[in-house]
Amino acid sequence: MKIVKTISEVRAAVKAWRAEGLSVGLVPTMGFLHEGHKSLIDRAVKENDRVVVSDFVNPTQFGPTEDLASYPRDLERDATLCENAGAALLFNPEPSEMYAEDACTFVDMSGLTGELCGKSRPIHFRGVCTVVSKLFHIVAPDRAYFGQKDAQQLSVIRRMVRDLNFDIEIIGCPIVREADGLAKSSRNTYLNAEERKAALVLSQAVKLGQKLAADGEASADAITTAMKELIEKEPLARIDYVKAVDAVSVEPVSKMQPPVLVAMAVYIGKTRLIDNFIYEG
Ligand code: PAJ
Repeated sequence: MKIVKTISEVRAAVKAWRAEGLSVGLVPTMGFLHEGHKSLIDRAVKENDRVVVSDFVNPTQFGPTEDLASYPRDLERDATLCENAGAALLFNPEPSEMYAEDACTFVDMSGLTGELCGKSRPIHFRGVCTVVSKLFHIVAPDRAYFGQKDAQQLSVIRRMVRDLNFDIEIIGCPIVREADGLAKSSRNTYLNAEERKAALVLSQAVKLGQKLAADGEASADAITTAMKELIEKEPLARIDYVKAVDAVSVEPVSKMQPPVLVAMAVYIGKTRLIDNFIYEG
């Protein structure tokens, strides 16, 4: 596996593969890779001749008071994980390689980003869409892999690909969890022992919501209220949102008419964690 820092090196590698008629998969990440990322890479390796993993903490998707500076990084460990998983190329650019100092072009969306994380993090999806578009142009893959863990991100990327005619198949992959249920996240490293225990309340709320929906509760409000009540019992937890939306349009729903995305963001201490489930009926 090669580790490269420049766009031209990525383009040269992909051009050589294309000349051999090989297919290319892309897994965009911000690094500090864990089993969740690995599940995306594993799937990409199965479905493509060559896999590019991007490892870039994208500054444009962080708000001014968010954790850009403290976001965990470990390129060496990431490289070992990618190599063992069978990736062909790890793209780890500096911010200056991705953004010219006077860059002023962004990819923005007028729908899908008004609720959930888009509401709490107003510039977040503009940054995500911009960097993912750039990666799509740089790598020009056949397929790109995203986790259901970031459910709104997956819906947003699917819509962007449709609206802007990217010739790329978007593959959504299921949430990978710790043995006790906590969704794997690079941000879990921020949690101390007490917070790590408290963080279980997110996956417990997901399980409760799933059960209520499976048992036939038709009111989205009844489901999110029960989930909120469970989370509020945990003193270290502070709810940002728990909401039911249409999984495609990300518009709020009152009835559990599938597919419904039930998503939450909860602060455990200072750490903001997300989790969700999709009710498919
Ligand atoms: P990051 O948080 O590093 O996540 C990279 C990819 O891994 C995303 O598609 C995310 O949904 C997926 N992922 C993370 N944890 C997962 C888990 N527990 N199970 C399954 N998949 C999981 O998401 C981003 O980076 C950035 O916004 C990015 C798309 C790279 C743009 O900068």
